[in-house]
Amino acid sequence: MPEKKLYEKPTIVRNMQGSMNKLAGARQRQQCGEIAGISVNELVKGFGSPLWVACEEELRLKYKNLYQAFSLRYPKVTIAYSYKTNFLPGICALFHQEGAWAEVVSGFEYEIALSLGVPGSQIIFNGPYKTREELERAVKLNSTINADSFEELYELEEIAEKLGRKVKVGIRINMKLYEANWSRFGFSLEEGDALRAAHQIAQSGNLTLSGLHIHIGTQILDKDIYRRMVERLLEFYQEITSQYSEITIEYLDVGGGFASSNTLHHEWISGEYVCPTFEEYADAICIPLTSEFSKAGHMPRLFLEPGRALVDECIHMIATLVARKDLPDGQRGLVLNAGINLLPTSYWYRFDIKPAATHNDAAGGGIAERVHLYGPLCMNIDCIQENALLPPLRAGEHLVIRNVGAYNYSQSWQFIRLRPAAVIITGTSVEYLRLPENTDYIMQLNRIPEHLAHRSG
Ligand SMILES: Cc1ncc(COP(=O)(O)O)c(C=O)c1O
Repeated sequence: MPEKKLYEKPTIVRNMQGSMNKLAGARQRQQCGEIAGISVNELVKGFGSPLWVACEEELRLKYKNLYQAFSLRYPKVTIAYSYKTNFLPGICALFHQEGAWAEVVSGFEYEIALSLGVPGSQIIFNGPYKTREELERAVKLNSTINADSFEELYELEEIAEKLGRKVKVGIRINMKLYEANWSRFGFSLEEGDALRAAHQIAQSGNLTLSGLHIHIGTQILDKDIYRRMVERLLEFYQEITSQYSEITIEYLDVGGGFASSNTLHHEWISGEYVCPTFEEYADAICIPLTSEFSKAGHMPRLFLEPGRALVDECIHMIATLVARKDLPDGQRGLVLNAGINLLPTSYWYRFDIKPAATHNDAAGGGIAERVHLYGPLCMNIDCIQENALLPPLRAGEHLVIRNVGAYNYSQSWQFIRLRPAAVIITGTSVEYLRLPENTDYIMQLNRIPEHLAHRSG
C-alpha cells in the first residue's frame, strides 16, 4: 500500500529553485544525510537529538593546514588553541595531540589545560581579568602572560617582588585598524598607553617585557587588516627596542580572528566564497615579519591563537523538527528542538541548514519554501533563522545545522532546556565528548535554605 499523504492546507509558494546569481541559491537544495560517513538517523538513534557532532579527521586536518600555511612562511611558529571558542576537553586534547599550546582567558580555562596535561609553560594566559591567585599560579608555572591593564602590571610587580624573581610579561596592544575595531582590550597604541606600559615595565626592577600581543577581533574577512596590523606592530617593536636596548622581545602574538566559511546575516555572498584561505592570512602576516627579521640576528617566535577557523566547520548540530506553524502573514514557521540557548551565534550567522532526508521534487518532495526556523524555547527571541529555504518538511524529520563549532557550545546555557550530548566521529566509531545534562546535574550546586524547604498547604 502506498503511504497515505497527510492533508495540508494549500499555500502559494514562490518558486525559489533557480539561482539568484552565479554564486547563491542552488546549494540550499542539497541534503545532508550523513556526517563524516555516519548516517544522521544512526547518530540520533544512538545519542539523541539535538546533538553536537564533531569530526576528528577534519579537526586534525584544519590544524595541520593552518600550521603548514604559517610554518612554511616563518620559521618559528606556535599555535595556541583558543579554549573559549570551544572548551570541550576532548576537542582541546585533540589539538594538544597535534602540538598546540593552550590560549586561556580565565582561571577556569587554565585549570582545564592543566588537567589535560598541558605544562604551564605551554599556556598563554590572556584576558581583561585575571585574579591575583590566577596570576601568581601562572607566574610560578612559567606561563606566557599578556597583561591587559596597568592594574595588572602593578599586580605582577607585587607578585614578582613576593617571589623574589624577575617576571617576564607581554602586553596586549590595541590599535585602530577597521570600523568595528576591538578597542577595549589591552593598551591603546594611538593613546600612547602601549608605550607607557613598555616604559613602566622597563623602569620596573621586577618585570621584563618579553612579548607583544594583539587580537583584533573575530571572523576577520579582510586579510589586509592583518598585514596593516603586523606592519604597525613592527613599527612599535622598533620604537621600543631602540628606546630600551635591554628589551628582548621573544614573541609576537597576533591572536586569532581567522574566519570560517559561515555567512554573516548582512553578507549577500555565501561565506565560503569570501573567507580567505590560511595561505592568504599567512602571507599577510608573515611577509612583513620575514622582511623585518630575515636579516636581523634575532627572530621572535610567532604565536597564533586561532579558535573559530579550527573548530567552526568541523562540528555540526543535528536537530529535529517538532512542529509546523502557519503564521498569520501567510509564512510558515518550523519549530526545532534546538534553540538559541544551544546556538547563540545564530544571532550573527546565517547557518547552512540542510534536511537529513532527500526531498526530490520529481518524487513529490515539494518545492522549496521560505520558512522561519524557531527553537523550542517559550520566548519570542528564539529564532535560529528567518527565511531559510527548505523543502516541505514533516515533524520528526532531522536537520543538520552545519558549521557550528565556534562559540556555540561554549556560550550555550540551560535556559528552559538542558544541553544535549556532544559526540566525536573517529573513522567509523562515535564516542561521547560530553554526556547530555540531566536534572540531577543541574540541582547539584543548588541549596534550599531550611526555611524555604517546606511547602505551605
Ligand atoms: C585573546 C584572544 N585570542 C584568540 C581568540 C580566538 O579568536 P577566533 O575564534 O576569532 O580565532 C579570541 C577570541 O575572542 C581572543 O579574545
